[in-house]
Amino acid sequence: MSGRRGLGAPWRRRRPLRTRLALAVTAAVALVAVAVCAGAFLVVRAALYHQLDLSLTQSARLAAQRNPDSAPGSLAGECRFLAAPACAEVVPADPSADPARPGLLPVRPAAREVAAGERAPYYTDITLAGHPARMLTTDYAAGRALQVALRADPVEDGIEQASRRLVLAAVAGVLLAAVLGYGVSRTGLAPVTRLTATAERIAATRDPRHRIELPPPGRQDEITRLAESFNTMLGELEQSVTAQRRLVADASHELRTPLTALRTNAELLARADRLTPEQRQRASAALGRQLREVTNLVGDLIELARDEEPRQLVERVRLGALVEHCVDAAREHWPAVAFQRSAPDGDPAVSGVPARLSRLVGNLLDNAAKFSAREAAGLPVEVDLRVPVPGGGPELTVRDHGPGIDEKDLPHVFDRFYRAGVVRALPGSGLGLAMARQIALAHGAELTAEHAPGGGALFRLTFPAGP
Ligand SMILES: Nc1ncnc2c1ncn2[C@@H]1O[C@H](COP(=O)(O)OP(=O)(O)OP(=O)(O)O)[C@@H](O)[C@H]1O
Ligand SMILES: [Mg+2]
Repeated sequence: MSGRRGLGAPWRRRRPLRTRLALAVTAAVALVAVAVCAGAFLVVRAALYHQLDLSLTQSARLAAQRNPDSAPGSLAGECRFLAAPACAEVVPADPSADPARPGLLPVRPAAREVAAGERAPYYTDITLAGHPARMLTTDYAAGRALQVALRADPVEDGIEQASRRLVLAAVAGVLLAAVLGYGVSRTGLAPVTRLTATAERIAATRDPRHRIELPPPGRQDEITRLAESFNTMLGELEQSVTAQRRLVADASHELRTPLTALRTNAELLARADRLTPEQRQRASAALGRQLREVTNLVGDLIELARDEEPRQLVERVRLGALVEHCVDAAREHWPAVAFQRSAPDGDPAVSGVPARLSRLVGNLLDNAAKFSAREAAGLPVEVDLRVPVPGGGPELTVRDHGPGIDEKDLPHVFDRFYRAGVVRALPGSGLGLAMARQIALAHGAELTAEHAPGGGALFRLTFPAGP
């Protein structure tokens, strides 16, 4: 039992692709070579016999013309020598009218039927005095048939010679097929081999900077396209690895300052007995604030490190209610700032994760309140939710009357840890908008910043149309 399994195993194992391709090409080309040779053999044989049959027909006509009405029996020739003309014999329909048999040529019942006019002329392969011959039995005078025979050895020799050559050609064809199969599999699979080598190198080195070499443009094929997709994938992988590394580096850098401040305050409070009550009060207030900041920072970092919406949390979100809730929360957090929510325009809904959308909107409101609190002079933060194009996606705008965003800062406000120089004094880490944009992208929405007409900043969140 185990012996059988041991024998069968190597056969059951899949051969490498290159060997399989070589075998398939060889088999296909060899099959064609053998089929062509076999076809050629049949054609040559048919042509040679056709030639012989034509000579037989002509000989029969000549014999009939020369002897228009002969009695049954031998007419001419013996077919003993190759060069001799055709031998002919007259066969009567009635066997009793035939002279002594056996005559020169064999007579079959079918020949009698031809003589009687009951059957069409026909050809037969016979043996004459030990030589192969071909015979035509055709109609002659009334009640008699004419049999004409010719030696077939030249034809047989020709066929044998042709078959020998064709077998040689078929063998050469099969050998050529093997060489071609090997060549085709080698050159055809070369790009695949390169692709595999690169993939293996990446797997071994874990370095996504490798790329597959592509042929010059214009020589595109399926493998090149596969290689291109692979390169694109590697590019994206490299980008995401770099982004992750940068995020970790930035985060550790950003965490250092608040953590140092925290430690200083904690150390200060450890020696609380040496502090005045006011100093103790201040230190513990600062400790609380810094702890909140670090907590926010860590929360934002975790949010940013997350990439996709967990599918099971996605639900239908009514934006009106969500914005209302966020504005209420902001009012509570910024009691000195006025928030003005314009009259709702319908009740637009999108599919998304409510908690994350609240975080996004909350961040915009928080920024607007934080950056405009000092300069807005009582002007409110305006929140507007509407569907600008009937049938299109909903759009949320948050506008403040603060200092606005400098032209040079505008392209960068969504970068991680980016904070414009003028606001450095205000609390924050510069992660809020990066996170907001990431949440927007995850919902298929677009978040942009612009200058509000008449001063201040305006953030626009546009959702795609449809459910
Ligand atoms: N409403 C606004 N008015 C003026 N500048 C703004 C406004 N919103 C954002 N900015 C600018 O964009 C920068 C990035 O904003 P972001 O919300 O990412 O960071 P932050 O508010 O400083 O910190 P965090 O949100 O992490 O607490 C801000 O530092 C500020 O320079
Ligand atoms: Mg912010």
